[in-house]
Order: sequence, then C-alpha cells, then structure tokens
Amino acid sequence: MNKITLFPDKRMHQLGDLYGIFFEDINHSADGGLYAELVQNRSFEFDKIDNWRYDHLTAWEKIGECDIEVGHDYPLNRNNIHYLAIKCTGEVCGVKNTGFNDGMNIVKGEEYSFSFYGRRNTGFNNEVIISLVDKENGAPIASESVKIKSCDWEKYNGVLVATESATCHLCITTSGKSMVYLDDVSLFPPTYKNRENGLRRDLAELLGDLKPKFMRFPGGCLVHDGNLDPHARNALYRWKNTIGDVSERPARRSNWGYNQTLGLGYYEYFLFCEDIGAKPLPVLPAAYNPHRRDAAPFEELKPWIDDALDLIEFANGDVNTKWGKIRAELGHSEPFNLEYLAIGNEEVGDDFFERYPYFHNAIKAKYPEIKLIGSSGPFPCGGEFEKGWKCARENKSEFVDEHYYVSPEWMLANNKRYFEYDKNGPKVFLGEYASWGNTFYNALIEASYMTAMEKSGTVGLACYAPLLANADYVNWRPDLIWFNGKKAYGTPNYYVQKMFMANQGEYAFEHSVENEKAAVEFGGDIFGEIWFETIHTSAEFSDVRINGEPVKHNNFTTNKEGSQIVKLEEIGKIGNFELTCKAKELDGIRGFTIRFGVGKNLYYRWECAGWQNQDSAVCSHTNNREAVLAHECRTIEQGRVYDLKLKVENNTVTCYIDGEMIHNVKVNKTVMEPIYTSTAIDENGNLILKAVNVQDTDYEATIETNRKISSVEAEMLKAELNAENSFECPENVSPTTIKVKFDSSVIKHSFPAHSVTVMVIK
Ligand code: AHR
Repeated sequence: MNKITLFPDKRMHQLGDLYGIFFEDINHSADGGLYAELVQNRSFEFDKIDNWRYDHLTAWEKIGECDIEVGHDYPLNRNNIHYLAIKCTGEVCGVKNTGFNDGMNIVKGEEYSFSFYGRRNTGFNNEVIISLVDKENGAPIASESVKIKSCDWEKYNGVLVATESATCHLCITTSGKSMVYLDDVSLFPPTYKNRENGLRRDLAELLGDLKPKFMRFPGGCLVHDGNLDPHARNALYRWKNTIGDVSERPARRSNWGYNQTLGLGYYEYFLFCEDIGAKPLPVLPAAYNPHRRDAAPFEELKPWIDDALDLIEFANGDVNTKWGKIRAELGHSEPFNLEYLAIGNEEVGDDFFERYPYFHNAIKAKYPEIKLIGSSGPFPCGGEFEKGWKCARENKSEFVDEHYYVSPEWMLANNKRYFEYDKNGPKVFLGEYASWGNTFYNALIEASYMTAMEKSGTVGLACYAPLLANADYVNWRPDLIWFNGKKAYGTPNYYVQKMFMANQGEYAFEHSVENEKAAVEFGGDIFGEIWFETIHTSAEFSDVRINGEPVKHNNFTTNKEGSQIVKLEEIGKIGNFELTCKAKELDGIRGFTIRFGVGKNLYYRWECAGWQNQDSAVCSHTNNREAVLAHECRTIEQGRVYDLKLKVENNTVTCYIDGEMIHNVKVNKTVMEPIYTSTAIDENGNLILKAVNVQDTDYEATIETNRKISSVEAEMLKAELNAENSFECPENVSPTTIKVKFDSSVIKHSFPAHSVTVMVIK
C-alpha cells in the first residue's frame, strides 16, 4: 500500500501571498469584458492606429434620414477630441450603438444607467430619445427622453429600466431639426458591488470566488508596447493617463489590436483588488519598449521614476500628500496598502537591465518597505533570463518575475525546477504561466506543478495567465475564464486555481510519500527526421552536411510564402548527429528554423532569429505544444551567409552560429510520478493535503498523521483528459465534494486515476 505521512509539527516555510491572479486587457478582457460599459467606441476615438478596421464611427450606425459625421472643431476636452455631429431633418433619425459581441445583453427589470455629453445648435429644440431596442425586431424595451439645453457641452444622464430581456442596441433619436452633437455616450448595467464606472458582475464574481491573494495588473505586453511619449496616441501604459474623469482619459491603442478607453484604470483596479481582498500588484513600464528596442535616455528617466514614486504615494500616501489627496478626491481617503510593485514585464535587452537599478534605488530610498519585482524575460531559461536573475540579485530585488507558456510535458519534466533555486536569493514571482490548452489534461498537469511550487519554498507569488477571454475577440489562448456578452464560464484550469487558492494554507509542512510503483518516464530521446523551415522568409541553404558528409540535395532555396519546409528525406530518422550548413536570408522577416528529431507527436526545433528577428531558441513540440528549452537574443542580417551547426549527442543539443556556441541544452525526460502532493496548515490549524494523480491507475494510500482527526472535508476534480468546459456545459469539468474515510489519525483513500484532490483535515 502507498503511504503518505504528514508531519504538521515540521513547518517548512510560510506560503504568504502565493496564489493570485493576473489581469491584462487582452482578448477584450477590459473593454467589452470586465469593464461593464456596454457602449463600444463611446467617445468616437476609435482610430486606424488601434486596428486597421476601425474608424471614428466603429460600432455606430445611422438611423433614418440624417447626415452624421465626426467633428473635432469644438471638442469636449483635449483628450477627447472627436464627437458625433447629427444633422437632423425633422424626421425621426439618429444613431445606434451596436455594443460588443452580438449586441448588448439586456435583462428584464434591471436598471441601466446612461449618460452622454450633448450640445446643440440654436435651432434645435426637441427632445432626444434614448432607448434600448431589441436588435431582432426593433421593439424598444426601455426609453427615456432628454432635452439638450445648451450650445455648450453638458452631461446628461438617466436610467433605463428594461421591460423585457433581449439583445439590444442603444438608440439615440430625435425628430427635431438642426444640429445635435454627442460625445462620451455610456450605458452601464448594474455593476459589481454597485460601483460607479464599475465592473461586470458575473466576471467580477468569478474572479472574487477564486479568493486570490493578489492581482497583477494591467499587463503583460500592453504595459511596455508603444511610444515613450506619454501623450502619444499609442503611448506605453502610463498610469496617470488612467485616473480621474473617464471622459478626460485619453484613448489608447492596445498592442492587442484594439482600442482601450482606459475606463478601467488604476483607481478602478485598486478598488477591485480591495473588493475581492487581493493585494494590488501593479506593473510599470521601465522607460523601455523591448519590442522596438526603444529606451528613454538615462537623463530622461526622471518622469518614469516619478511615475513609480507617485504611484506609491497615490496608493499609500496620506491625504495631505499630493497624490494621496488625489486618491481621496476620487473617493478613497484610506490607503490601498500597496506592498508589491513590478518594474517591467518580461523584458529582454540590456537597456532594461541598465535602467532597472535607477528605479530600484529611487523607490527603495523613499519607500524601503515596497517589495520590488524584477523581470527575467518571456522564457524559462536563456541569456536574458539569467540577466534578469543577476540583475535582481545585484539589486536585492525581493522577487523576479518569470513567465512561460509550455507544454504539459515540459511541466512534468521540470516539476522539481524550483527545488534547485537558492532559498536565500530573491523569490520567484511566477507572473505568467500556463500549459498550452484549456482541457482537463492541462489543468491536471498544472495542478501537479503547483504542488511543487508550494513545497519549494522558493516561489513566493504565482498567477496563471491570462485571466479572461471574450470568445468573439481572441488574441491569446489558453485563458482562465471565457465569456461572451451574456455568459461566462471557468475552464478546468480555473477550477484547479480555485481549489488551490481557496486551500492555500499558511505554512507548508513536511510529509513523506512511500510509493509502491516507480515513476513512469517517457520522451526525451531525440530521434527522427530533419527538416528545414522558413516562415514568411526566403532563404538559401547550401553545403548541407550530416556528420561531415554532404547530403544528396544539399543546396536549396525556400520562398517567402507562408511556412516552407524542406525535408532531408534520404537521411531518414536519426538520433546523434552533427548537421552543418550555410544559410543566407534573402528576403522576409525571420531567420531559419531546423526541425530535428521529427516524429509523430514530437519534434524539436532550432529557431535561429525567430520572432521579430530577435531570438535564437531551441524548443520542443509535443502534440504541437511548444516549450522553449534554450534562448538567446540573436539577429540575422539579410544577405549575409551564416555557418550553422547543430549537434545532437545523447539528447544534448548544441547550436553554433559562425563557430560561436549559442545553445547547449540537455533535454529532460517527461516524468509522471505515482502521485504529486503538498501539505500545508491553515490559520485554523487544519491540515491541507493536495494530491494529484496524473497516471491512468488509481492510487490507493493510507494517510497518517500524529494528530487526532475529527473530520475531513474534501473535493475532487476528475474528468476525461480532453474534457473542456463551454458556454453550453460550463461546469462539465468542475470539482465535486467527496467523502473520505478516516479512523482516529489514519485516512484510507483511493485517489482515482487523473484526478486532483484537496483534503482539509480537521
Ligand atoms: O499573457 C499574454 C502575453 O504573454 C502577455 O502580454 C505577455 O506578458 C506574455 O508574452
């Protein structure tokens, strides 16, 4: 029989704020998502810079016979330049907003708050009708009228009470004559905790239910993508642009290909954190855009550093301080108790590492209590990753932000990763991680990985990413919660996060596991075909040799269309080998890729100058799910001939460019332990056992402790490996309460194949 022995008296380390969430406005998770505003393009600021499909009238349509145009001569304010001008004819006419997704989800009996800024020409004297109209049959289900009183901008608001449930458009019509002007047209449903300018209830509740210890926001790449000028339309994410009157917040291009109104800004983020009991964890740009390698000169760092210092004052400062006063004026005299601050998001490039110390030192000099988080790039390894850790050690940052999206098999192969980290150095902030996919299999393997995080004592904070995806506007998968205009559901990964967060515990304590069976190992042997590949790039390969011998067709050129693959068919499948060739990029956007060990569901890849011609990386692809095994920044010059060498020896991959060794990495085997466990004690003295069985046989165990057990509460997540949740079956994969048999201080339990179990032992 397998045996798990709990030693609750042997405390290992505090679990602190281990589990949190990461919010980024990606997949329309803010506008059209968590931010409850139902009007899309409310201030007519949508622009081609956000998305080539946009114009100032995106999501607006004309009603009846009138002329509509977008004006900018008499703007509402300097940040909100454009407005709608309607030349009314005396017939019923106006505009409608079609909202996000397939329209606005309006629920019978609910109250919807509308507001807009309006002005008129002197000749216009009629009422303006604001109505919610069923988009299917054109029937109004709520309407109110407003008289526009002035030729100057004034704000008008009211409430629409829906008499039916329907998918609606918001219509603004009149039968007057002459000109009416509209701007900042807004419609809010009842929001989470009834906050003004608040959040969509079902989504906020799903997040609150997780009981996260912290929330990382507002990104992600959107923090550091854009222009260094804070006033630019596509500025990096500057928090000062996101507070105060929403009509005065500048519209922003998000790098995810849409417009951010910034209606969900820093004040709203702080409030939401408070509402769900999560500590705020903001991420600030470090005066650097790594996508364009654009950095503010050192002598211009002050405003960026001031942004950081002022943010701390805004969050924590006394109401007599400049920024504390602004917070109080916005409605929150009490501090938001900011403890954590991240500088940079998955940064690469020396420009970041040279600038980080300036931020760090200035913040620590004024606010030594703030725990600072450095960055280590977008991969779990490599040159930039090492630089990130070195920078954090040298500066004594409290945390280093690691990010990776990997195959489930990578997580199994690297389960013990954090056991090898230095317990005395900065702690890991695993600020973005996920296995590629939202099936139960992904969630199961993530759960096994999380048990190791808990035991390691070196991971201080961790959050799955990204959080939300609007199913009609997907930029990125996997995501924790999926939604459309009407519904939302948690993925299996959500339920794993929820089980682990709700049962995190205060301290990890020791336990031992005695298994009857050994771990199952697979993969990790590099054996297969060799393919050359270019992506949207034409390249010339010549003098291709394997182990010094020229291959039959050793000279070929790829063209620029899509992905071009040339297979070295006569070589067949090989394991240990040395491949050499000359490679020249002729045209295109990336360098060269050599696939090797190509088998049915597994291959490896050396990508030489990949994304944005910035990276050289060795990756594994298991069932088409990638994991980066080695990474360095490398750029390829067009027209230049490179000598490439790829050597595979006993599953160690070594790559050279022009004789310089770029990568040397040993590929790990995938390991499935008989059981993955962690143990913690909560603030009430209850013992928590998490057990994850990733194998396809049940795991029968006795669980012993030296304490007398009075009761055991347990829940389990179990499903077919490929099972998913959906709008139709939102809880297809969701935890169930289970009964656990115990006797005095011994539990006997069978952990079913492919299951996640959390026991609270009282
Ligand atoms: O989470 C999606 C993106 O992945 C984030 O913006 C970025 O930080 C990472 O590359």
